[in-house]
Amino acid sequence: MNILVINGPNLNMLGIREPDLYGRVTYAELCRRIEAHAAERGVEVSCYQSNHEGDLVDAIQNAYGRVDGIVINPGAYTHTSVAILDALKAVSIRAVEVHISDVDAREPFRRTSYVRLACERTISGHGIDGYLEAMDHLIGGEKPCGR
Ligand code: DQA
Repeated sequence: MNILVINGPNLNMLGIREPDLYGRVTYAELCRRIEAHAAERGVEVSCYQSNHEGDLVDAIQNAYGRVDGIVINPGAYTHTSVAILDALKAVSIRAVEVHISDVDAREPFRRTSYVRLACERTISGHGIDGYLEAMDHLIGGEKPCGR
């Protein structure tokens, strides 16, 4: 199985950015944890981050025929981007939406998610672990016994 983890704008600033909301783990450390989790679960993973909406659309389009599942945290584009929603619909790749913070408990505008319409599941407010939970959802299994 091949998973693509996509992060949108300002998520490269993890560790620096509003640590009370997003924690102190850096983007580089997030990628290391995602890669370690993939290795543990026996799947391939790649991490992609961009601050630009069109680049995120390109990354989703490029995943067509190459990737079995997408984990996506579109950052602020969650609440505005029909283009990212349409890209996910266009490729029809299984996708899970992740938010580090609990978006439903914040400003009202963060309760709207366009991307959610193309995702099997939303994981919000679980911090960095949300990415690993999203991977597990795509992998489709519980953790092996005894773990
Ligand atoms: C976020 C929540 C968004 O509202 C915000 O714009 C982000 C990060 C999260 O991970 O909690 O950039 O997606």
